[in-house]
This record gives sequence, C-alpha cells and structure tokens, in this order.
Amino acid sequence: MSTDTQMNGGQTTASEVAVLELKGLCKSFGGLQATRDVTLRIMAGDRKAIIGPNGAGKTTLFNLITGIYPVTSGQVLLFGQDVTSWPSHRRTALGMARTFQVTSLFPRLTVLNNVLLAIKGLRPSKFVMWRFLSSYKEVYDKAHHLLEQVGFLDRKDTEVRNLSHGEQRQLEIVLGLASDPKILLLDEPAAGLSSGESTEMTEFLMKLDPKLAILLIEHDMDVVFDVADEISVLHFGEVLETGAPEAIKKSKRVQEIYLGTD
Ligand SMILES: Nc1ncnc2c1ncn2[C@@H]1O[C@H](COP(=O)(O)OP(=O)(O)OP(=O)(O)O)[C@@H](O)[C@H]1O
Ligand SMILES: [Mg+2]
Repeated sequence: MSTDTQMNGGQTTASEVAVLELKGLCKSFGGLQATRDVTLRIMAGDRKAIIGPNGAGKTTLFNLITGIYPVTSGQVLLFGQDVTSWPSHRRTALGMARTFQVTSLFPRLTVLNNVLLAIKGLRPSKFVMWRFLSSYKEVYDKAHHLLEQVGFLDRKDTEVRNLSHGEQRQLEIVLGLASDPKILLLDEPAAGLSSGESTEMTEFLMKLDPKLAILLIEHDMDVVFDVADEISVLHFGEVLETGAPEAIKKSKRVQEIYLGTD
C-alpha cells in the first residue's frame, strides 16, 4: 500500500486528502454482481484509467461514483467526505463531473450556446432567453475563457452538428469542465473515433489543467497508455490488477482476459 504522503519539494501539502476514494464498493442487479469490492484512490492531478472487457462493470462503477445508482455496499468519499448517499447534483457541486458513453450535445445549437447552457446547468427550451443569457457578462466571460483555454474559440459560432465527430467528443468534455470540476470521469471519450481523431483526443486530454484529476474508461489502448499514469483492470466487476501502464501491458493475467483464454 502506498502511504498518503506525497512529498512536494520536500514538504507535505494540504492537498493530500484524496479527491476521490472508493472503499469496498459493491453493486448487485438482482443476482448479478456488477461491482465487487472496488477500492480506489485518486489524488489531485492523477490520471487513472479503468480498462476491462465489455460488461466488466466499468460504466456501472461510474454510475455508483456519480450517484446515478445507489450502492449495494461500500463508500464513495469526495475530498474525504462521505457522499455515498448524495444525489448527483450535490457531487457535481463539490467538484465531480462526468461525460457519458453516448453523446449528450445539442446539435442545432452553436458551440458557444452549448457551453452557456452547460454553465447555467440548463437544457434548451423556447423559454431560454438567448439574448439575456449571452449578454449576461459573467456567464459569457466564463464560456469565452473556457473555450479559449481548450482551443475552441475559433469555432464558437459553429453549430455543433457541423463539427467533426472528434471535435464533438472533445466539446462534451469542455461541457463537463463548465462546473469547474476537480475530478473528471470520462466514459470512453475515444469511442467511435478514427485513429487520427483518437490521437487528437489524446492531445486534447493531455493539455487539460494538470491539477485536474482524471478517471478514464477507455477501450482504445493507445489513448489509455498515453494519458494514464496508472491503470486498473476490471473483470467481472472486480479490480483484477492495478499498476503502471508498462506493468499492465506485460501482465499475463491481463493478456489472458483480453485474449479470452481464462
Ligand atoms: N441498470 C442495470 N440493470 C441490470 N443490469 C445492469 C444494469 N446496468 C448494467 N448492468 C449489467 O452490469 C454488467 C456491467 O455493465 P457495464 O455497463 O457496467 O459494463 P461496461 O464495463 O461499461 O461494458 P462496456 O465496455 O460494454 O461499456 C453487465 O452485465 C450489464 O448487463
Ligand atoms: Mg460501459
């Protein structure tokens, strides 16, 4: 077990409380144990990936972390605070954001309007007063700053449906950043992308604020190996192995589950 202590220029810092900690998380759907005793710890700036075959329980784990599903047993701690029974929106307010395996953008709105809505936590409707929203300086400035930070300002007036698929997946992450998260959970950000678009996604992820913790589910191993410092392998809901990318790559057990010879 590693200790809690991270040395920083010879000094320990107050940021040592884990951003996210999972303790013995279990989830059953009737007779199916989708998550078994998952324990994980994520510190500020950590880049961790969860990999595993289809149906291993990766998305279920995200649904437990974000409060979409109630846990069967175990605990979720955010900044040391037990949030296991908190609804999703309270977890978001404390600094957790996630993106979904399936896209959730508004295709007929511009990039900027998607960001403005995300900042306000709104969905589009005929009752949203666009002029009011976009002239609301604080919100507008924040959207502008966010788009600038992630290199999207040049496309702010483009309707989302006219962006490439790769750009749309990046924009979803930008919307996740609208709530100023300290930890970002990404469920297969490279799903359905061409290899060129996956490379761009990797570059995009690597340019995000280094203080932001990222927990990434991904099947594209090039993305995983470039982005993650540590990988956990999930198999039948259980963490089979956790380690540095090189160790996971060499692991016989991991090779076996991917080759289906177990
Ligand atoms: N709401 C639910 N009700 C019943 N069973 C569920 C539910 N959600 C997930 N499961 C089951 O839990 C198991 C894990 O599913 P999950 O979606 O977490 O896998 P995954 O690792 O994300 O797979 P993939 O790589 O295909 O996205 C599967 O057997 C799935 O059928
Ligand atoms: Mg999934």
